Order: sequence, then C-alpha cells, then structure tokens
Amino acid sequence: MTELMNAPTHTPRRTGLAELVQRIQPVARQRADAATIAQQVAEVLTELRPSPDLLTEEERAGSPESYTRHTLHAEATFSLTAVVWRPGQITEIHDHLVWCTFMVLQGAETETLYDIDGDHLVELGERQRPTGSVSGVAPPDDIHRVCNTGDTVAITLHVYGADLSNGTSVRRTYQQRSEDADETTDHL
Ligand SMILES: [Fe+2]
Repeated sequence: MTELMNAPTHTPRRTGLAELVQRIQPVARQRADAATIAQQVAEVLTELRPSPDLLTEEERAGSPESYTRHTLHAEATFSLTAVVWRPGQITEIHDHLVWCTFMVLQGAETETLYDIDGDHLVELGERQRPTGSVSGVAPPDDIHRVCNTGDTVAITLHVYGADLSNGTSVRRTYQQRSEDADETTDHL
C-alpha cells in the first residue's frame, strides 16, 4: 500500500490513537454479527470524537492527485484508516468484504447509496455527512460512493472489520451497470 511505502522512518505522534484502539478492541473482538459491531464502533467514535490531529500537518494537506489514505493501526479483527480528501475527490461505486464504520473528522462528505435490481444499480439517495457524523455499514447492504462535496479539505476516519495492512476492504467496484463490475485492489 502506498502509505506504507511512503511511511516516514519515525512514527508520528497520533493524538488520541491509543485510546481509540483500546476502546475499539473489545467491540471488534466480540462474537457478534457485523451490523451490531459496526453500530457499536459508531457509538465509540461518537463518544470519543477523535480529532484531525490523528494526522500530521503534512498528511492533513492531502494530495492534488487523489484522496490519500493513512493506515493508523491494524490488527486481526480491525483496522483504522484516515482518509484525506481535497474538494471534489471521489471514490468509485463499491462495496465491502467486511463491516465498516466511518466518522467525518473535518469538512463534509456526501455519501450516495445504491442497491442492485437485477442486473443494474439503483440509486437509493444521498446522505450529507457533516463534521462529526458517523455512519456504519455491513455487507451486503453497503454499496456506496463517497465524495468531498465541500470546498475545504475533508478528513474521515474509517474502522474496518479486518486486518487491512496488506489488503483492501473492497469486495468490488461497480459501473452504473452491474455487469461491468470488476475486481479492485485500491479503493475504500
Ligand atoms: Fe466504502
């Protein structure tokens, strides 16, 4: 993963990371269904309200090329990834292999939700995700696309239900027609 290849030789100070990991561990490790875990992780994020200071100033600047990801923690049952989005940066339409909960730490995102009807995607609607909002989803009802529709840099924190230090949470990406779906290795 890019963020690992570009990782600095020293470990940046991650304000609030240790407490986040400590609080998420017992939730992610329990034997419960994915949707329940995603919801409980959402409650932890809502309570702790992690700040953009999880990232360094350089990381918070983002990139003109694409949204950028920073894996902050990974263990067997969950991973923590921060994503920095400049205005207009957008994912492909995709779904996930595992549960995912994310919080908007800075700026605003728009999430578009989809369902599959036969052989094509149906747009279910858009959800505005302002700073502080939390969203948790679990397969199979998790086809979405996320975009920074604001005019400032946005930062989101994603918790995924797997060790993603050497992989991706994405099951597949979609074009507007589902038969064009293809495998992917580099999306949220
Ligand atoms: Fe996603």
